[in-house]
Parts: sequence; structure tokens; C-alpha cells
Amino acid sequence: MSKHRVAMVGTLRPGLVAALTERFEALELADIDPADAETVEVAVTSGGWGVRVEHLDQLPQLRAIVNHGVGYDTSDIAEARRRGIVIANTPDVLTDCVADVAVGALIDVMRGLSAADRFVRGGQWAAGQEPPLARRVTGVRVGILGLGRIGRAIARRLEAFDAVLSYVARSEKTDVSYTYAASPVELARGCNVLVVAAAGGEQSRHLVDADVLEALGPRGFLVNVARGSIVDEDALVAALEAGGLAGAALDVFADEPHVPAELLSRDDVVLLPHLGSATVETRADMAELAVANVEQFLTKGTLVTPIDP
Ligand code: 8YV
Repeated sequence: MSKHRVAMVGTLRPGLVAALTERFEALELADIDPADAETVEVAVTSGGWGVRVEHLDQLPQLRAIVNHGVGYDTSDIAEARRRGIVIANTPDVLTDCVADVAVGALIDVMRGLSAADRFVRGGQWAAGQEPPLARRVTGVRVGILGLGRIGRAIARRLEAFDAVLSYVARSEKTDVSYTYAASPVELARGCNVLVVAAAGGEQSRHLVDADVLEALGPRGFLVNVARGSIVDEDALVAALEAGGLAGAALDVFADEPHVPAELLSRDDVVLLPHLGSATVETRADMAELAVANVEQFLTKGTLVTPIDP
């Protein structure tokens, strides 16, 4: 039996491409000739790329988009829905790894670990210098922006550090004891560390703006493991340069892989290359779940993890 043809939109991770090509005739959209593209029913993309209108126009028979990653803000979801196309993502399997990185980044920026590593390698320790004192993590007041699966996993980990937790979410949660804040400014005002764990997209664009950073204040830290678009990066740079913020740990940026040049030389920021889900185990689970979605859609017409259940 011939394999189903599946379009890959964007340069996908090698493990995902390997898993797809094993089961399907998986071709990069650019390599599919227009006549063949008319037969494609499923497209696979990732959070870094997305399926946009120009891709949808090339795939007139498309019925499903499978997004490798939990965040699908790079795809034109509204237009896909309008065309009756269903969408799957890969939730849950990456929650723990992203939460681990959030906590690691929080500790790194508060205790100055990456900066201290540079200090040792740079010979300052050997030369008899002392690194600056850092800030205590245990008992810290943490505000979580977005109490979804990942936000909750971060909060659970921080409970072990006796953190005092508060959050902002679309609605107040009845199943947690953390303090609900009515707005990002209120959240920032009441915490020492603001952790961004919200979904990306227009609705969350620049939720962390100059006012929120001002409310966080000169002793406050920002941690972002969600999407760069949620933070106004110009305001962040301005706050750091003015001494209005103690530091930031960022795994995501507005225009990846571009990192604002002003941040590169600062010791009070931790800069990571969007590695939240980047472990052997989790990337394998994500690829498997993406393939399972394609497979189930092609055989039964349903998705394993639809974004609109
Ligand atoms: C990935 C992510 O880096 O899941 C997400 O939303 O941002 C990350 O896990 C990426 O989308 C995987 O392709």
C-alpha cells in the first residue's frame, strides 16, 4: 500500500522528520509539485514555523494541521478553522521539561550561576576576586503569569522551595491555594520573581510591558519560558539599563534566534536558546505524539490531541 503524502511546513527537527518519513511520504511543502499538493490532507509544522494563509492556499484539500509543540501561535488558526481544518498540538509530554527549565533559569538568575561560571572561566576567582552576593531562592515570592499545565508544574516545583505563589490566569482557579491577582501589574507588585508561562498570540502580546516591569521593581526578576512576544523587549532592556530590574532569565525571544544586542554583555541576564522541551526523551515523545495525530487522522478522521477538543 502506498504511503499517505504529508506536507512538512518549515524546517522540522531531524527526529520528527525521521519519524514522519518512516510512516508517510513526508515532503517539504516547497518540494511538492502543485498537482500533488492538491492531494495533501495533513500538514505538520512546529511552533517555530507555523502554517499560514500562503501555505493553506497551496494545500486546497488540507483537513488537519499537526503542530510539533504545545504553542501554535505561529499558525493562522483563525483562518484554518474558517476553512474547516482541525488542529492538533503536542501538550503534556513537554510540561515537565519546560517547568524544569523555568525553575533552573529562576535559580540561575537569582543565584548568578551562569555569571559565576563566566567569573571562574575568566580567571577572576583565581585572581583573588569575589563574585557579588546573589539573592536567596528559598521562600521567594513568585508570580506566575498563566496557570495552565506548564504554569502549574512550575508552581508545584516551587512549593518545594517554600515559595509564596500567586498567579494571573483568565479566571480564578478553585483547585489551588495560590493567590489570584487581577492583573499582571498587581501580580508583579506582589512578587520578587515574575515567571511567564502563558500562551503566545495576539491576546498575550506585550502583557509584560514597562508598567509591569516597573511594578516588579529593582529587586525583581523576570523569567520567560513561554513566548518572546509576551514581553516588550525594548521595555525590558530599558528597565535593566536603568537599574529598574534585578535581572531576567529568558528561554524565548520576540524574533528568534535574534537576541537584543544590549542583553548579550549583561551579567544580570541568563540567555537560553529556546531549549525548554529540548531533551532526548521529550523530543522523542513529542515526535511520537505528532506522528500519532497524523496516523489517527488519516485512518479515523480524528486527532489524538486536538486544540479544540
Ligand atoms: C519547541 C515550544 O521548541 O512546544 C512549544 O510550544 O516552544 C517548544 O517545545 C518547538 O515548538 C518544537 O518544535
